[in-house]
Amino acid sequence: MSTFTIDTKTSRATPSPVPGKRMTAPSLRARKVDGKTEQPIVMLTAYTMRMAQLLDPHCDMLLVGDSLGQVIYGLPSTIPVTMEMMCAHGAAVVRGSWHALVAVDMPFGSYEGSPEQAFASASRILKETGCAAVKLEGGEAMAPTIAFLTERGIPVIGHVGLTPQAVNMLGGYGARGREEREAHKIIADAKAVSDAGAFSIVLEGVLEPIANEVARAVPAPIIGIGASTECDGQVLVTEDMLGLFERTPRFVKRYDDLAKRIGEAARTYAEEVRARSFPTPDQTYKPKS
Ligand code: KIV
Repeated sequence: MSTFTIDTKTSRATPSPVPGKRMTAPSLRARKVDGKTEQPIVMLTAYTMRMAQLLDPHCDMLLVGDSLGQVIYGLPSTIPVTMEMMCAHGAAVVRGSWHALVAVDMPFGSYEGSPEQAFASASRILKETGCAAVKLEGGEAMAPTIAFLTERGIPVIGHVGLTPQAVNMLGGYGARGREEREAHKIIADAKAVSDAGAFSIVLEGVLEPIANEVARAVPAPIIGIGASTECDGQVLVTEDMLGLFERTPRFVKRYDDLAKRIGEAARTYAEEVRARSFPTPDQTYKPKS
């Protein structure tokens, strides 16, 4: 068993409140009734224990996205992300949360080969992290795999539209569905993934009318990112919405400007160290008299 709980005596963070009941895949699926979702599903990405602690009270789901490849590791895409990375970060996010459902992305190459390969990878993710769901990219072609996992007790979130693991086939990260044939395929993909048993579906980077149609036509809750206001929920990469990067996609709303604030804090610290105004006697240990 490689999952641990936080030692509240040694952790720097305020201990978690009394553990409550976590959100579940069936309860989130049940939010959409007759094609409508009264209370939108709130999802953010988290890769670390501390960020999970801060986001957890406000979210229905925390996604340990393979976007950690770019955001945490500085990789050029999600393609080099490994199972080891996803399991280590997934376990950290589970340790830092008590309310939200934690879902972990299946990395590229860990599920596309066959339903059996997907089951081996997904069960490893569930065992090593303690998470309650996995997410995988792909539409109709992945439907048999999604059915195989869900029939064997593994809740799955689908991901259609712009699927970043397929960047080499797509030729970039631009919005999808500009051609009629592709628009029809995105709608068919979402329906197939829902019919296969996914309890929700991330719909990324598609033209608004397509997103509206998917949200209306597909029974599973649709979680939009660069999609539309009519989706059943929304997800953003947390570091994007906190303003940790200079460049963000058009669909991101910045709720803070952390890059600027961190830079200012680091500059003040550096100036004080150089001026010998930090540390002061307040930050030093005194012998007991
Ligand atoms: O990897 C990720 O963070 C994602 C979200 C952008 C939905 O898949």
